[in-house]
Amino acid sequence: MSMKIIGTGSALPTKKLENEELTKLVDTSDEWIRERTGIGARHISTGETVADLAADACRKALENAGREASEVELLLVATCSPETEIPCTACQVQKMLGAGNAVAFDLNAACSGFLFALNTVYAYLTAGIYRNALIAGTEVLSKIIDWTDRGTCILFGDGAGAVMVEQCVEGGMMGFVQHSDGSKGNVLACGSRKLENPWFLEKDFVPYVRMDGREVFSFAVRQVPASIEEALGKSGITVDDVDLFVLHQANRRIIESIAQRLKADISKFPINLDRVGNMSSAAIPVLLDELNSQGKLIPGMTLVLSGFGAGLTYGACVIKW
Ligand code: ACO
Repeated sequence: MSMKIIGTGSALPTKKLENEELTKLVDTSDEWIRERTGIGARHISTGETVADLAADACRKALENAGREASEVELLLVATCSPETEIPCTACQVQKMLGAGNAVAFDLNAACSGFLFALNTVYAYLTAGIYRNALIAGTEVLSKIIDWTDRGTCILFGDGAGAVMVEQCVEGGMMGFVQHSDGSKGNVLACGSRKLENPWFLEKDFVPYVRMDGREVFSFAVRQVPASIEEALGKSGITVDDVDLFVLHQANRRIIESIAQRLKADISKFPINLDRVGNMSSAAIPVLLDELNSQGKLIPGMTLVLSGFGAGLTYGACVIKW
């Protein structure tokens, strides 16, 4: 038994923030941002929550799949920027959708969140525990960004993507790998809420994203191609058999370097980060939905999905569309 994606959806906040507008906030330029990252614009929440965006994306994924919310058995939301600590975002989305028959919970693996959620759901579905699932990656990163730090505030965007999946007999997921390296957690980190009980001992606390950009860059260009090769090996195919590599959208130069290391044609690496920036766990499902709605995902195509990010976490999976 395997698992296939039967519908996709996405949602972006209405406000579009162009590079030019950022030059009024920090000492940067459109040219610098485009050259170093490939990013030209991103969408920023003016009030939309991670749950609002995820629910919108999920509704579209259900519609695309021709399924009702009441049919959903498992609702898994990947996010590293939840609006509330409790209840989890998935339970809020469940309520918004009226998906009363689903079990709902969150998963946080930062930019690998959607990929890890997909693999987790695969385990549930192939074990026969549930027959279908709705998976969303959703972020409002703009609330955990330091808008005075030009090294990070130029990179990120808000948005959500979702997929509806169900058990299948043939095709679908062919293989996956996932890895974590907690020893490198400090290269990309963000505090949650400061300990302020009556007994706390003062410690440094940063409630915003802090990043060692060069470390993240070198981690991504080394580990991502290796994990893709590993996932391809497990699936019994090679780089040449892949039609599209749907990668986490962090930086154009990272994607180009990964393509080079894999000796794969860059035209097989769709990119939307120029328009939406880095949306962490929402990046892969939003890109998948764009490709799907443009009719670029043809049955029988072989796709590689690969996520990488804070944790550090990274992984890849191979899917027959
Ligand atoms: N505008 C203008 N100048 C800037 C900006 C900016 N927005 N940000 C940094 N600079 C300056 C720095 O201050 C530095 O100046 P100095 O030489 O006077 O000290 C200079 O530009 C070079 O800075 P570097 O950090 O060395 O620049 P680099 O070429 O490494 O690019 C970047 C920085 C884009 C962050 C790069 O390291 C990168 O892409 N890293 C990957 C990180 C990433 O993609 N993270 C996303 C989150 S993680 C994830 O999704 C996996």
